[in-house]
Amino acid sequence: MTQDDMKKLTAEAALDYIEAGDIVGVGTGSTANFFIDALAGLKGKIDGTVASSEASAQRLQSHGITVLDLNAVGDLPVYVDGADEATRHLHLIKGGGGALTREKIVAGASSKFICIADDSKLVDVLGKFPLPIEVIPMARSFVARQLLKHGGQPVLREDFITDNGNLILDIHNLDILDPVELEIELNAIPGIVTVGIFAQRPADVLLLGDKDGVKTLT
Ligand code: 5RP
Repeated sequence: MTQDDMKKLTAEAALDYIEAGDIVGVGTGSTANFFIDALAGLKGKIDGTVASSEASAQRLQSHGITVLDLNAVGDLPVYVDGADEATRHLHLIKGGGGALTREKIVAGASSKFICIADDSKLVDVLGKFPLPIEVIPMARSFVARQLLKHGGQPVLREDFITDNGNLILDIHNLDILDPVELEIELNAIPGIVTVGIFAQRPADVLLLGDKDGVKTLT
């Protein structure tokens, strides 16, 4: 089974968490794209979606799936999204696709967060994948200096602007031993919009695809 086969199988398994009449929160990335394609088969059953990025909104619409503004709907029953790294505690690094801010908002507005990933994403300690941080442009250098004090090596993501008009710093060389604490600390730095650690609001379910099928971690 290829990595894409595992992503597809895992994305399809997430359909079990969707109920008739749901407004579904939809994430961003290649695994989320498989979920969007699978969700097209249920489009008559759900009441619509809220997308975590412009790219996902376009893909949803290309399938004829309704995309709603989060401000126009209440809290969501379920959010389905991928991750760059995940632990057995369901703490995540997200933002490889740069959509972390809207992803964190939609995750926060959802009762259940179903994370879908292939088993290459499972780690004991977060941080080998460079931690994405969305930053207000005028704060870029200030924030980078603060991150150096935390032992990280910030690298500006070249030629990339987020859907919110901001920049991404990817922080290398972090061993994130206490994800909840580091998320709180980094959130307090002025100029940081969103930290790509999802630990204060972790996933509720991690569906992990490997060569034998899909495992469910809760
Ligand atoms: C986008 C994300 C994605 O969920 C993450 O990058 C995983 O992507 P993929 O499914 O392509 O491996 O956080 O901002």
